[in-house]
Amino acid sequence: MASLGYEVIVVDVDPEKIEQFNQGTVPFFEPGLTDLFRTVRQSQRLLFTTDLTKIADCDINFLCIGTPQSSAGFSADLSALERAFNSVIASAKVGSLIVGKSTVPVGTAERLAKVISTQKKKLTLNWNPEFLREGHAVSDTLEPNRIVIGAEAQENAEKLADFYKSISPKAPQFITNFPTAELVKVAANAFLATKISFINAMSEVADATGADVTVLADAIGVDDRIGRKFLGSGIGFGGGCLPKDIRAFLARADELELGETLAFLKEFDLINQRARTRAVAVALKELGNPKGKKVAILGAAFKPESDDIRDSPALEIAETLSTLGANVVITDPQALHSAAAKLPKLTYNDSVTETLRGADLTMLLTEWGAYRSLDPVQVIELVKTPTIFDGRNVLDVKTWQVAGWKLLALGRTF
Ligand SMILES: NC(=O)c1ccc[n+]([C@@H]2O[C@H](COP(=O)([O-])OP(=O)(O)OC[C@H]3O[C@@H](n4cnc5c(N)ncnc54)[C@H](O)[C@@H]3O)[C@@H](O)[C@H]2O)c1
Repeated sequence: MASLGYEVIVVDVDPEKIEQFNQGTVPFFEPGLTDLFRTVRQSQRLLFTTDLTKIADCDINFLCIGTPQSSAGFSADLSALERAFNSVIASAKVGSLIVGKSTVPVGTAERLAKVISTQKKKLTLNWNPEFLREGHAVSDTLEPNRIVIGAEAQENAEKLADFYKSISPKAPQFITNFPTAELVKVAANAFLATKISFINAMSEVADATGADVTVLADAIGVDDRIGRKFLGSGIGFGGGCLPKDIRAFLARADELELGETLAFLKEFDLINQRARTRAVAVALKELGNPKGKKVAILGAAFKPESDDIRDSPALEIAETLSTLGANVVITDPQALHSAAAKLPKLTYNDSVTETLRGADLTMLLTEWGAYRSLDPVQVIELVKTPTIFDGRNVLDVKTWQVAGWKLLALGRTF
């Protein structure tokens, strides 16, 4: 937004993050963001602070607070969002707009709007769910594929609608009520999770019958009513959104007495968890007794082009094999720092060569371009046993086999 000419103040309660931004460093990896940040920083239109009172002159206040899974169950923990919301109300300019971007259970915005209506500041609330994808955040923000605005009345959404028209005149706008806006986001994530888990369910069937899930995905995916996107079979989805969002949706459905309606999502969550245990089982079958065997893990992030390790299938598989006694070494182009902060007892190496050296089993778990394009002829020299588990079904099977590798995967046999 600063790059588009707006004056932007970023407030976070995490002083380390704010300090890093103020030192000129983006504290996480997101392609293209560091370059954009450095350019915009020169303009002085971007201020980072922990002091919320600095928002006193702002016309629009965006709430982008985390809504993680609560420690007690499946529901979303809204405590940080509510704290931030109350602080913003206290410091916001009279007549300004508060825009919720966090993913929240349906009914949240209506509840928060009631709080605002008891205030004398004439604040307005909009709910404007965020659809950016980590790894594509810059382009998704500058060229959003849609704008969804939930408001109590159409006229309450006009200011934000005009703001987005100035940023991205072509993006279709959906102006609607609060529950619809909240539901668009969770329904979109539920649908994406469903597609991935559907193909992983087919992967289980393929394992039991000798079918090949990747050919199956290609063949059903040519039907444009189905589509090939998000039919990548393998070790399943992770990250800070899909898993917690479908669980929060399930918890909210129970509160609304709609548990049966969304029960299918519980199954899809289980299929997704099972993909991880199936991967561990394949590794154990190959290794026999895992004690002391070296397992090279390629990838720690939950997906490529990100250093986000929240609910990462790769890390969970690595941790399980390590707990079972294997000598697990993990490499990743960007996520080793965040992985080591979360799981300091595991072994990390930033060199792919050293990670592979002497490995009894190699597991490709995050499909970074650098791993997809490894030369099987070169790297076969490094490992002790040339067996690779392709957890994302992305390797060219023939090329690896011809080079002398044994391939393992879920949903297909070679
Ligand atoms: N990450 C994504 O790709 C993505 C995409 C779409 C939607 N979302 C949704 O956006 C929301 C944020 O997600 P995230 O991944 O950026 O979370 P995050 O945990 O990475 O970031 C949230 C930030 O809020 C800060 N914070 C907490 N309490 C605060 C307060 N009182 N005042 C100011 N700052 C405070 C935290 O310190 C943290 O830096 C979630 O609801 C998520 O579901 C995320």
